Amino acid sequence: MEFLEIVGGARLKGTIDISGAKNAALPIMAASILVDGETTLHNVPDLADVRQMQLLLTRLGVKAERDDEGVMRLCVKDEMNVCAEYNLVNKMRASVCVMGPLLAKRKRAQVSMPGGCAIGDRPIDLHVRGLEGLGADHDLVNGDVILRAKKLTGTDIFLGGPFGSSVTATANVMMAATLATGRTVIDSAACEPEIVDLAAFLNACGARISGQGTPQIVIEGVESLTGTEHSIVADRIEAGTYMIAAAITNGDVEVRNARIDHLQAVVDRLRRVGVIIERAEQGISVSSSRRLEPVQATTQPYPGFPTDLQAQLMVLLCLADGNSMITEKVFPDRFLHVGELNRMGAMLRKEGPTVIIEGVKRLVGAQVMASDLRASAALVLGGLVAKGTTRIHRVYHIDRGYEQIEKKLAGVGANIRRLQE
Ligand code: UD1
Repeated sequence: MEFLEIVGGARLKGTIDISGAKNAALPIMAASILVDGETTLHNVPDLADVRQMQLLLTRLGVKAERDDEGVMRLCVKDEMNVCAEYNLVNKMRASVCVMGPLLAKRKRAQVSMPGGCAIGDRPIDLHVRGLEGLGADHDLVNGDVILRAKKLTGTDIFLGGPFGSSVTATANVMMAATLATGRTVIDSAACEPEIVDLAAFLNACGARISGQGTPQIVIEGVESLTGTEHSIVADRIEAGTYMIAAAITNGDVEVRNARIDHLQAVVDRLRRVGVIIERAEQGISVSSSRRLEPVQATTQPYPGFPTDLQAQLMVLLCLADGNSMITEKVFPDRFLHVGELNRMGAMLRKEGPTVIIEGVKRLVGAQVMASDLRASAALVLGGLVAKGTTRIHRVYHIDRGYEQIEKKLAGVGANIRRLQE
């Protein structure tokens, strides 16, 4: 098994190119099920999760090929299969994004229920409720959700849940509603940039979606969608991770292609910490040259501070002068990194959905275990600044969502290598 070895202490300096967003690419790939003809996607990142979605789509009769330049061509060849099996869904939760497209295009969807995962319980009740609202019947058989509908009909759907809006539930209902008869209004819709990107793709295919990026999305159903070309939006979570890498190493880095308008809450918190952030010609420049101030942060659905950057912010705050606090309001149990960061000398205390972060003078290198995608990124950030050597095991978690992380970091001066156990 592979692991990452980092010798901490290097100041990062230079430019990092940001890839296309995983969380936009996955639902857009799933949306190709809805499309007649060929879909061409540009800026598709080379990630384990993208390969996993390719595999699932192949099983569902979609030919999906990605070249080395990040161009993916997708085309439906066979519409017989409607089943996303357990052994595929349990490897990647975003597999659930095929549910809406299968139901709308093939009148039936059978998707294995994704169980809990490292970041907590992850129910799909909102997905099912939204699709039922469009007229589907649903059943649970042997752990699979089975949805059927001869015809979908537009309606008003409220998609708010106990933790606010749901990103992939919004994606599923929006995708299904594109081919429903009449008008669908989704209230309490997710406003994430990845939803806006999905809507842009669907509209380019002939869908009639408006209001994307706001909590109310309106979809006028159309008869069919036709193939188009689309470029995947830049990954704001990858960008935020490298912005924190620059900050934590007192570095000076430009994250090229990153969209500052998608990172306002992150920029706000980082500036409060004392990090210097400016709009650059082709992205965002980030530098830091002094001790960091403590802050409070609360994760929320977009445009709030993203839960997918909570662990990374936490490791930065470990090195602030004083006590900080992070409250997790999207996935209240998403704190597996706390124990691992404490092994590196952090002083973190978890109290319910909040972690109190006592600033320390330094982190120290250790052997640590990646537990989920973003927690693993936080360990990498810790390793960059820790005294001595850090080894991060179970690196496959990182490969799910960061394209060539060690190459990108080494390119700006980090001492990082991928090695074999
Ligand atoms: C997406 C992202 C993930 C990110 C998360 C929150 C993708 C592929 N993944 O995941 O990286 O961490 O948004 O920004 O885009 N919930 C329910 N019922 C449901 C669905 C969700 O109660 O049917 C709850 C969840 O448990 C969670 C909250 O709603 O507490 C938000 O989850 P959701 O936005 O659905 O996350 P995902 O779409 O799975």
